[in-house]
Amino acid sequence: MDQQTPPPAPTADTLAFDRLMTARHSCRAFRPDPLPRATIEAILTIAQKTASWNNTQPWQVTIASGAARDAFRDLMVSQAIGSGSPDSAGAKPDADFPFPREYRGVALDRRRACGFQLYDAVGVARGDKVAYARQALRNFQLFDAPHVAIITTEEPLGVYGAVDCGAYVSNFMTAATSLGVATIAQAALAVHSKAIRTHFGMGEDRRVVCGISFGLADVAHPVNAYRTARAGLDEVVTWVE
Ligand SMILES: Cc1cc2nc3c(=O)[nH]c(=O)nc-3n(C[C@H](O)[C@H](O)[C@H](O)COP(=O)(O)O)c2cc1C
Repeated sequence: MDQQTPPPAPTADTLAFDRLMTARHSCRAFRPDPLPRATIEAILTIAQKTASWNNTQPWQVTIASGAARDAFRDLMVSQAIGSGSPDSAGAKPDADFPFPREYRGVALDRRRACGFQLYDAVGVARGDKVAYARQALRNFQLFDAPHVAIITTEEPLGVYGAVDCGAYVSNFMTAATSLGVATIAQAALAVHSKAIRTHFGMGEDRRVVCGISFGLADVAHPVNAYRTARAGLDEVVTWVE
């Protein structure tokens, strides 16, 4: 490859796409205002164009709003902390997909860095486990978002079904950004996959990949004020010529 050739001039599409990718970030404080159904449908229509293995389109999307969202949030909180009485613990985790076994090397460094950014933003001191737990609970309160989407794949499609759903989640979030809608993907919700299946009456062959809480960002909230970094190409690309 000729390393002297200057990069191609970006097209308007390149610039628009890069702007959206740069603007999207995980929102962890939402305003309560519900979105119009037409806005949600516009996001879903774009995300529906996601590529998938043999065009299987394994994603199914359950969207809870209003009272249904409140009931789901209450379920998630009770799964996370139990009934709230001092002797009650939360439900045992039963995620459909195994969570990371171990964080090593740069993965561990990056995980720590984004965790500290979050804690610094909300004034949580290093090592304050009670405050860590309080912040973790915000996941199950859906960060006060007015809507939550649960993304499931189909069990027989295996890991590639989940990969396709991951692409769908990404496209959902980018499409939402283009409409001024804030999002956060939430694997935390998938910790209680079976309870989610039961609550929404999903088929036994559905597998919960993650949730996406979404709505309008509370832009004044400090938790939304920081942005995470990305590694340079030199850290991730191997050129073979
Ligand atoms: C599949 C997936 C699951 C995630 N699950 C959670 C979660 O449960 N809770 C949370 O606070 N953030 C969650 N995140 C957000 C990541 O922490 C976030 O994307 C990452 O730190 C990069 O920050 P950014 O989204 O602001 O660019 C998840 C992201 C992805 C892609």
